Amino acid sequence: MSAPPKTVLEVAHAEAEAIREAVRKADVTTLAGDRARAELRHVPGLVALLSDVRVSGPIYDLPRPINEAGITRWVIENQAQALAGEALLIVSLDEAGDVAGYSRIAVWPDRSAAELAGAVRADRQNSGRGGAGMAHVFGWIFETLGVRMMCLTAALDNLRVQKGIDAAGFVRMGERDAVRPDGTIRRSVYWEMARDDWRLRHRL
Ligand SMILES: CC(C)(COP(=O)(O)OP(=O)(O)OC[C@H]1O[C@@H](n2cnc3c(N)ncnc32)[C@H](O)[C@@H]1OP(=O)(O)O)[C@@H](O)C(=O)NCCC(=O)NCCS
Repeated sequence: MSAPPKTVLEVAHAEAEAIREAVRKADVTTLAGDRARAELRHVPGLVALLSDVRVSGPIYDLPRPINEAGITRWVIENQAQALAGEALLIVSLDEAGDVAGYSRIAVWPDRSAAELAGAVRADRQNSGRGGAGMAHVFGWIFETLGVRMMCLTAALDNLRVQKGIDAAGFVRMGERDAVRPDGTIRRSVYWEMARDDWRLRHRL
């Protein structure tokens, strides 16, 4: 299950409430024009996307097995969490309107923190744009949702995503046991990034 950063920030009630409100009202098309909040009509597309092990294999916090019932429940849970200001499940759509990728942002308003997981369809992988795409999402999370801290994990052998995360300037802070929904553990590389450091690095 998604876990908040190791670093614990002091967060005033007003800041936490502002983050919840930002999550509730976030316009995901400001992230990119092809994005939408995941709804039940996207379930078949998500099942097709995530049934491909090249897409879902590296991701620890997906419901498994991946099927219509499990993904329906996952979309509904995420809609409820979005209303609480605690998560956003976002799909990207291709020219035909099919689901071509997804991002899930877990938010801990009381910690002013977020975590991101996501993937793109196999035909869009190895695009050479993964690093820039990830950096764009990280910046959007800091500036649109207003959190001051992000953490990320990746499988020890997922060198491709590790490279993109390092390139964005996230700081490696050892390893972490990421817990899958079935309770099994995936040993992971662990990173954090503070918003102030992000702004300095990207000269915002
Ligand atoms: C993660 C993901 C979005 C990245 O997008 P992408 O278009 O495939 O990424 P890129 O082609 O830009 O590759 C990113 C970098 O990794 C490098 N790379 C690719 N394969 C690599 C490998 N086996 N070893 C080391 N580096 C590798 C690329 O050269 C690139 O570096 P560069 O920007 O310096 O050229 C996409 O691969 C994906 O959806 N993967 C499956 C799900 C996943 O792993 N999600 C992350 C879970 S935390």
